[in-house]
Amino acid sequence: MTEARTPKQLFIETYGCQMNVYDSERMRDVLAPFGYALTDRPDDADLVILNTCHIREKATEKVYSEIGRLREHKTRRADEGKVTTIAIAGCVAQAEGEEIMRRAPTVDLVVGPQAYHKLPELIARAARKTGERLLADFTAQEKFDALPARSPDGVTAFLSIQEGCDKFCTFCVVPYTRGAEFSRPAAAVLAEARSLADKGVREVTVLGQNVNAYHGEGAEGFADLLRRLAQIEGIERLRYTTSHPVEMTDALIALHGEEPKLMPYLHLPVQSGSDRILKAMNRKHDVVRYRQIVDQLRAARPDIALSTDFIVGFPGETEKDFDATLRLVADIGFASAFSFKYSSRPGTPAAVMAGHVEESVKAERLARLQAVLSSQQRAFNAAQEGKSLPVLVTGEGRKSGQKHGRSPYLQAVHFEDSEAGAGDIVDVRIVGSSQNSLTGVRVDSTLEVA
Ligand code: 5AD
Ligand code: SF4
Repeated sequence: MTEARTPKQLFIETYGCQMNVYDSERMRDVLAPFGYALTDRPDDADLVILNTCHIREKATEKVYSEIGRLREHKTRRADEGKVTTIAIAGCVAQAEGEEIMRRAPTVDLVVGPQAYHKLPELIARAARKTGERLLADFTAQEKFDALPARSPDGVTAFLSIQEGCDKFCTFCVVPYTRGAEFSRPAAAVLAEARSLADKGVREVTVLGQNVNAYHGEGAEGFADLLRRLAQIEGIERLRYTTSHPVEMTDALIALHGEEPKLMPYLHLPVQSGSDRILKAMNRKHDVVRYRQIVDQLRAARPDIALSTDFIVGFPGETEKDFDATLRLVADIGFASAFSFKYSSRPGTPAAVMAGHVEESVKAERLARLQAVLSSQQRAFNAAQEGKSLPVLVTGEGRKSGQKHGRSPYLQAVHFEDSEAGAGDIVDVRIVGSSQNSLTGVRVDSTLEVA
């Protein structure tokens, strides 16, 4: 294939989790050499990719209504003599590919997560006006090998090390859409991390659906892989997401106390504070175990902050179960959290369980839970005021002398400073906070990267 001369407009809409954010970046990267430039307007785009999420019903519905809107752009552009290619990627593509092809004739290409590296070829075929419509998928290993990670801001990057899940929580579609767990060999992960560091990346977030279940060849488990990643010169900060409580091994917990590059912030989904519900969810841990992991983490790394996920209104959840969730939240104190109403997903065991909870009850419980969680988040951010935090500079602010960066706790920090450049880690005295970010003033630099 030859390189295009005039840039073609590419619009990508990303739904769902960080795996999808990561995949969208990779799709953009793989298409860039073929003359595709990113636009934020779908109406003028030559190629529209919807990178979809199947985890809750609402996310799936959104895809079909967005396809309806895109059909109008496509018809209008066709009247102007222009071709618009519409591709559906991600988990809805994987789970409902054939149904999309049937229900939405306006879609040219359906591509599952394993086939993204073939996108240029697939799109060229779909855009050829032959009327050919394609449904594509390949194996997990092929995808990892063909698409090197890149950093959107040059300083932070995701590095995907594991895909899929064998946990089979009874509410979740991931084991069906993303398939069985697959871990990349350690050598490939380390080589990719080294290449990111060479390009100036300072903070790597190791990514996987069940990242701490990593069991790739050439490493003795996930803690060993992290330890070796931390030895790479240039990588100053490490994070990982999303982890499962049953995979929090002693070695991994201990590493939080031993490895300063491992940031003191962990996303550890709990889903519910009721043992009865955790059992029905097939979470494979109880509340006592979750609290114990948190205690052990805090003993190893006293400044660690936690984030989590909750589902409210799981089938059979009573007011008493929900109270147990509120109690857990009050006891642990989360720096941030995601919470969702249970959404019944066809084909999952929970969908056919007894005791589905009324929508209005779910909504009311979610509102109560979110009120507590947001006040905890505000309090956590406010508690940083007066402290000096090491901030990784990610770029310039809008006004001169303003910079933005990331705290160890993943908070966005806006601060005043004229000297620091992207990639530096500088001390910032925090003077203000809001629900989602911090403001501050530079104190001193702890690391200058030439
Ligand atoms: N309904 C509601 N929330 C869900 N999640 C996963 N499946 C469902 C579902 N069927 C939530 C869980 C998970 C997060 C990624 O999405 O909290 O941790
Ligand atoms: Fe889904 Fe449970 Fe696997 Fe997470 S651990 S991806 S919630 S099945």
